[in-house]
Amino acid sequence: MRTKLNWIAALILCLLFAAPAIDAQTAARGRKVDPWWKRAVFYEIYPRSFKDSNGDGIGDLNGITSKLDYLQELGVNAIWITPCFPSPQVDFGYDVSDYVNIDPMYGTLQEFDKLVREAKKRNIRVILDFVVNHTSDQHKWFLDSKSSKTAAHRDWYIWKDGKGPNEPPNNWMSTFGLSAWKFDPTTNQYYYHYFYPEQPDLNWRNPAVEKAMFDVTRFWYQRGVAGFRLDAVDTLFEDPMFKDNPLLPGTDKFGRPNTQEKYNKKLPEMHAALQRLRKVADEYDAVLIGETWTSDVSELKDYYGSNFNELQLPMDLLLTNLSLSAPVVRKHVAGVDAAGGWPTNVITNHDIRRSYSRYGDGLHNDDIAKMMADFYLTLRGTAIMYYGEELGMENSDATKKEDVKDPIGVLGWPLEKGRDGERTPMQWTSGTNEGFTTGKPWLPVPLSAKTHNVETESKEPDSVLSFYKRVLELRREEPALREGKYIALNESDPNVLSYLRQSAKETILVVLNMSATRQQPNFDLTKQGFAAANSKTLAKNAAARPDGELKTVTLEPYGVYLGKITK
Ligand code: NOJ
Ligand code: CA
Repeated sequence: MRTKLNWIAALILCLLFAAPAIDAQTAARGRKVDPWWKRAVFYEIYPRSFKDSNGDGIGDLNGITSKLDYLQELGVNAIWITPCFPSPQVDFGYDVSDYVNIDPMYGTLQEFDKLVREAKKRNIRVILDFVVNHTSDQHKWFLDSKSSKTAAHRDWYIWKDGKGPNEPPNNWMSTFGLSAWKFDPTTNQYYYHYFYPEQPDLNWRNPAVEKAMFDVTRFWYQRGVAGFRLDAVDTLFEDPMFKDNPLLPGTDKFGRPNTQEKYNKKLPEMHAALQRLRKVADEYDAVLIGETWTSDVSELKDYYGSNFNELQLPMDLLLTNLSLSAPVVRKHVAGVDAAGGWPTNVITNHDIRRSYSRYGDGLHNDDIAKMMADFYLTLRGTAIMYYGEELGMENSDATKKEDVKDPIGVLGWPLEKGRDGERTPMQWTSGTNEGFTTGKPWLPVPLSAKTHNVETESKEPDSVLSFYKRVLELRREEPALREGKYIALNESDPNVLSYLRQSAKETILVVLNMSATRQQPNFDLTKQGFAAANSKTLAKNAAARPDGELKTVTLEPYGVYLGKITK
């Protein structure tokens, strides 16, 4: 008996230790093993606003650590934390003054290490934000650079003489208003800043800059970081001749003449630099996510690299801009599919009005939020959520200029109100300050937080949160939703977007009513190999369909239906 038990124990041990080896063998035999980032759902955290642990009204790293159980239960696999490095906070962290430390407002390096450790225990990876294009004007590199024309770091930034007295070197504009050049009296030259004057652009043509920045990524990889979201990659390089940009008709929201950013955006040199950055990432099996604004989905191809040697996950940010219309969305998804790479789907972030407010019609807001979730979380590709989206958090813009915190809102008021509205504190409870802080929150929370918060919605089976959890659970359970083909159905339907996700073994039907009226689409899946299809409900909202033979689905305004198809 004893010997038999010993045998069984030995066998179990053998199997346990052999598992990774078996995985490697499977890969070696040619069966493709998907990289982790293809299977993962990412979740963007704006650290100022997620959870405050020390009562100063500003979120912090310990706050994030205290909410990892929530994130695990929600079903996310990686968190992207927007910049938490030392910074004067002119652009709320996107002005970094030290790339290899944590801002005391957010915590310490030790607390960061703890966050990574605790996240790992819950199978959650940590992604940081890498502000590649510019530093803070308080970074020691810039302080040295501006000190004299012969300073060691002079050529780490972009310095030029003016065209004439009080005249900048050319007509390039900062995307945050005014000229992109600031005169510095110490050396009587202008420096270039695509964003705020406090964010001078690095000179990526200088190999020393590249080396220093690549070393920054190594520092964090060695601390357990699983990758980076790359900020503002399009502005990495400028035309070496500094030619004027062509003028276009009209004026922009800051009242300046429109220009075509021909000579200071999307220069081809950027791709070569990103490919070199990718080589470093590959040494650590890390993922690079791009802030990639394209004018057409086919442009995404440029960022994957000709041999998929550039960014693994260039974000499809056009998806954040689509109107709620089945034909528009259908065309877009087909375009992304045709671009050939692995899509990165995102519907909102810290620079864009929250999707709940963008798409909401005032009558069906929760249904629309569920429909949008069901849409982008069941598409082929990796999804990146934005904190609070799963609650149906709405935008909450300042109503008075005096209350605006984001400098572009101060400069551009009232046409440009800034981005405070999409960055308000996470809504944890219906209690004081929505459970975000015991102090005074740095931004106010909207009234809807009383109903749209984690505590309340966790108890309601029909809440936006419960719906998100169900869809995320289905993504985990159903291989077709993670790796299956996308097959468009009923392509001329003007109101309902329908598609199949199909893997070798299973087929899932997704039906989304993108209109404010009741719809009853019919389905004939003969061409897809189901002469008589049966469907079993996996999830639905504002929709009716008994399980069994699939002929039609009844959908109320913005209703959704997800079913498993069998013969
Ligand atoms: C894009 C970031 O998402 C945004 O928040 C920031 O202001 C600019 N880049 C400048 O870093
Ligand atoms: Ca630049």
